[in-house]
Amino acid sequence: MAAADESLPAVWSGLDKLPEMDEGQFERWVELLRERTGMCMPRERKSFLVTSVGLRMREVGYEDYDAYLQYLVSGRGGNLEWTTLVDRLTVHETRFFRDARSVDFVREACLPAMLERMRSGEAVQLWSAGCSTGEEAFTLAMVMENELVRHGLSGYYGIIGSDISLHSLAAAKQGIYHNRRLAQIPEGLRERYCEPLGVSRFRIDDTLRRRVCFAQSNILDAARAPFASMDVIYCQNVLIYFDREHRRQILDGLSERLRDGGTLVLAPGEVIGWSNPRMRRVGDSGVLAFQRMG
Ligand SMILES: C[S@@+](CC[C@H](N)C(=O)[O-])C[C@H]1O[C@@H](n2cnc3c(N)ncnc32)[C@H](O)[C@@H]1O
Repeated sequence: MAAADESLPAVWSGLDKLPEMDEGQFERWVELLRERTGMCMPRERKSFLVTSVGLRMREVGYEDYDAYLQYLVSGRGGNLEWTTLVDRLTVHETRFFRDARSVDFVREACLPAMLERMRSGEAVQLWSAGCSTGEEAFTLAMVMENELVRHGLSGYYGIIGSDISLHSLAAAKQGIYHNRRLAQIPEGLRERYCEPLGVSRFRIDDTLRRRVCFAQSNILDAARAPFASMDVIYCQNVLIYFDREHRRQILDGLSERLRDGGTLVLAPGEVIGWSNPRMRRVGDSGVLAFQRMG
């Protein structure tokens, strides 16, 4: 994409050592990332930043960090290139049923109220914020679908998966994974919701894929996200990449997006010292969850 842009200089050749990034340059990159994504890049991660930015800028033909930064902040080509760079700088590691206790908490503590609302004809909505390649959103879908079937209900629920990374979202939309990931899914659910695809991959079945939609959204803008009245917002292993002030902004924003009685589920130990007058801590010490009060 950006490499085809004629405003880009000729592509670097060879495996030369990446150029040094001086203090001023490092600070400008840290500030750009902080301002645009809220991402926190401490000094200990400087070598990660230099390698990620350096390799990418070389791929698109730049040899100077300042010139590449200028390209990123000016014009349409820069916007496209920005999405690729952000993808390189963010951690996308994820798994199905990643935190079993939090999933159990959704099933045991949040689901009864959701089933009740579905019984009376209301739709319920869950949001996997920072969903990476979709495993978390499909985990929630498996739990919801399985419980609906178990209770003989046919109510409506929808799940939104959002992320800043277009590359991850493209994979999530496909719902295709390597067979290695099957072991992460409890056996009964695996058989019900995962269809073999060739010899080495599987696909999440249509019933679940119809319930889940994926959209790009910067979690920093959570307060203005077009997803409202959520029953559950599940946001794990995302906040760790933000500084304290941005975490507070995100958590307050996510709280705004819940319905009264809705629950925000974070990863255990991910946040310390946050409070919001509308939210009360729920669940035992093995989970980190907050319920919005009416
Ligand atoms: C480590 S993954 C966590 C995935 C999943 N929630 C889990 O726990 O397995 C972190 C995800 O947060 C996303 N992310 C980072 N900054 C973001 C932002 N500002 N807005 C939305 N998503 C962001 C990354 O792209 C990445 O996919």
